[in-house]
Amino acid sequence: MRMAAVLALLAAVAAAPAAGGEYVAGSFLGWREFRRPWVPAPEFNTWDGLGPLFNARNCENCHFGPALAGRLLAAPDGGVVARGLVVRLGDTEGAPDPVYGRQLQTFAVARMQPEARLVLRQGEATGGFAWEARLLQGPLAPGVAAVARLAPALVGRGALARVDAAAVEALAAAQAARGDGVAGVPRWIEGYDGRRLGRFGARADQPDLDHQIAWAFALDLGVSSRIVPQTAGDCTDAQPACLAAPHGADGYRSGAEVDDAEIAYIAAYLEALRAPAQLRAPPPGGELFAATGCATCHVPRMPAEGGGMVTVYSDLLLHDMGPGLDGGIGAPGVTPSQWRTTPLLALAPHPGRRYLHDGRAATLDAAIRAHGGEAAAAAASYAGMPEAGRATLIAFLEGL
Ligand code: HEC
Ligand code: HEC
Repeated sequence: MRMAAVLALLAAVAAAPAAGGEYVAGSFLGWREFRRPWVPAPEFNTWDGLGPLFNARNCENCHFGPALAGRLLAAPDGGVVARGLVVRLGDTEGAPDPVYGRQLQTFAVARMQPEARLVLRQGEATGGFAWEARLLQGPLAPGVAAVARLAPALVGRGALARVDAAAVEALAAAQAARGDGVAGVPRWIEGYDGRRLGRFGARADQPDLDHQIAWAFALDLGVSSRIVPQTAGDCTDAQPACLAAPHGADGYRSGAEVDDAEIAYIAAYLEALRAPAQLRAPPPGGELFAATGCATCHVPRMPAEGGGMVTVYSDLLLHDMGPGLDGGIGAPGVTPSQWRTTPLLALAPHPGRRYLHDGRAATLDAAIRAHGGEAAAAAASYAGMPEAGRATLIAFLEGL
């Protein structure tokens, strides 16, 4: 099973179209970095610097299998098998918890205590499972919410980096002008010689893959980089022992624990992974998908920077998805019920594959039925369709 998944990934890398030899070589090195297990510092090993607090030792711990996604599976013994499930913290404006930071780290290096234990059981709460965080360093600050996030599929998503920002802005204006209830907004990230379009993350909070990957190293692995230089990752001022713990930053990597080249290799790897709809014509059902109102947000093809089109099934805009998908955590300028349109790529189901930001949907049908807010009309059209139409639409999605 595991071997088959690795072979599928290699096949995806090998199939990357129009990639120069150098690009494929970079993506192969990135595949290696994606799976490299980091170790705590100090160690006579250039891949030290894990933690002090962390959730995983490498990217593949959370993003794996044919779609490079997380997994939630009901086990026969009544338990839940989870991989890639994290708990994010924040208030409605996105401010982190003063003690625990932006994410609960469930592992720590030797002689340090993790922040929480995550207990999962089967239940009704979130589409078949319920989770509880047993906090080990006192309660959360008032107003700070804890929300589960499941590692999304990465296959095909590198394409988001190539979408033309001006086209995204034009699309937002066109949606607003139509006045039919769907009106997405672009996420602008300030502080990069002006502003840049947010593209990555379920809140579109990162402008490019390098930033997304550097933040994954910081929050999930506790590994610093030029982009996120704090060596203690998500440790806060209220965790002095964590801040003072040994780190792996050294002259070898211009003062950080992971260097720019390693991050660039991973970015090249993710850009080379193509979903089926990016390699060949999409399956039948595209007209029905559009007629149901899905393509208003899940725009199949967007103009690429520098010309051409790129297959993404997303408008890259934030939409209000209604109270059912309100997680209680916002971000600067983003309300807790606004989410970036998820690119519909590499959606094929397999055991443990889940959908939506917290993995609550065990099937594509459940994911669509959970759409509310700006997507309520499209979800109602779907629910009101004859059975055969729904089956066509699901088969279409599974082939993307
Ligand atoms: C502990 C689990 C975990 C680990 C380890 C992890 N991720 Fe993730 N990843 C997530 C979750 C959860 C999200 C969704 C977060 C969000 O949307 O803001 C995510 C989101 C992403 C995205 C954005 C996808 C999109 O749709 O925009 C990329 C790219 C990504 N991860 C790459 C990586 C890389 C590269 C690594 C290794 C350096 C890594 N991740 C390590 C859990 C993990
Ligand atoms: C108003 C914009 C909008 C419309 C219209 C819309 N969606 Fe979505 N869709 C989203 C957003 C935003 C998300 C992410 C929600 C979340 O994760 O909480 C999403 C998530 C999904 C997912 C889950 C993907 C994953 O990997 O987690 C599927 C499947 C999906 N949409 C299918 C559809 C279909 C089919 C239709 C038409 C019936 C549709 N959507 C209409 C905005 C929209």
